[in-house]
Amino acid sequence: MYSKEHVAPLVGGAAQQSDSSLSLAQKISGIFDEDSVLRVKENFEELKSLLSCYKCAILEVETKFNVLNERFSLDHERNPIETIKTRMKSPESIAEKLRRRNLPFNVNSLEQIHDIAGVRVICSFVDDIYMLADCLLKQDDIRLIEQKDYIAHPKENGYRSLHLIIEIPIFLENEKRLMKVEVQLRTIAMEFWANLEHKLRYKKNLPENIAEMTASELFECAEMSAQLDLKMQNVKNCIENS
Ligand code: GTP
Ligand code: MG
Repeated sequence: MYSKEHVAPLVGGAAQQSDSSLSLAQKISGIFDEDSVLRVKENFEELKSLLSCYKCAILEVETKFNVLNERFSLDHERNPIETIKTRMKSPESIAEKLRRRNLPFNVNSLEQIHDIAGVRVICSFVDDIYMLADCLLKQDDIRLIEQKDYIAHPKENGYRSLHLIIEIPIFLENEKRLMKVEVQLRTIAMEFWANLEHKLRYKKNLPENIAEMTASELFECAEMSAQLDLKMQNVKNCIENS
C-alpha cells in the first residue's frame, strides 16, 4: 500500500531484534518451509540492513522529486507534482513474489526484486510526467534499468502510468550502495482509476458474464479518464500559448 507519510520503520531497534526476527519469520512461515524460516531468523541482521537500505533509497528519490517540484514552481509558478506516495513492499508480498519465482528468501534473491522500494509521483498533467521523468533520468547519479510506458501503450485493461526502475546510490557511514527503486508516474485521473480498479479486482468469484461486463466497463472508465487528461492538457496548452 502506498502512503503519503514517510515510510514507517520496517523493524524496530536492537532491543526489539528477537521479536522482529520472530515476527518476520511468522509473516513468511505460511509461504516458505521450516528450513527457510530458520535461515531467515539466522540472517535477520543482514536482511534488516538490506531493507533499511531500500528505505534510504526511497528517501533519496522522494527528495529528488521534491527538489524538482520546488525549482519548477520558481520558474513556472505552478507545481507539476500533486502528491508523492511511497511504500516498502511488505515481507509477505516479497515472500510471495520470491515463491512465485522459485527463489529462497535471502539477501541474494531480494536483490532480484526490483519493486521492494516504490515511489509514486502523482502529477497534474500528462506532460509533467514525461518532463519529471526526463529531469530525473538526466541526473548523473541515476541509472535507468527499465522503462515501461503504459501511457503510450496502455495495458489491455486500460491501466496507464509511466514505470521506471532506476538505480540510485545511497551513502552510508562507510560505503556507497546502489539500490533499485520502482518509480510510477501518473496523473490524478490515472491514480483515481488505478486505485478503484485495484479495489474492485479483489472482488473475485464473480459469474463470468458479470466479470466480463465489469472489465469492459472499467476499460471504458480508463478511456474516459484518458480523455479527461487530454482535455485538461489542451486547456493548459491553450492558456500557456495565449
Ligand atoms: P509485478 O510483478 O506485479 O510488480 O508486475 P511487473 O513486474 O510486471 O510490473 P508492472 O510494471 O507491469 O506493474 C507493477 C506495478 O504497477 C504493480 O505492482 C501495480 O502497482 C501497478 N499496476 C500494474 N498493472 C496494473 C493494473 O492493471 N491495475 C492497477 N491498479 N495497477 C497496476
Ligand atoms: Mg510490483
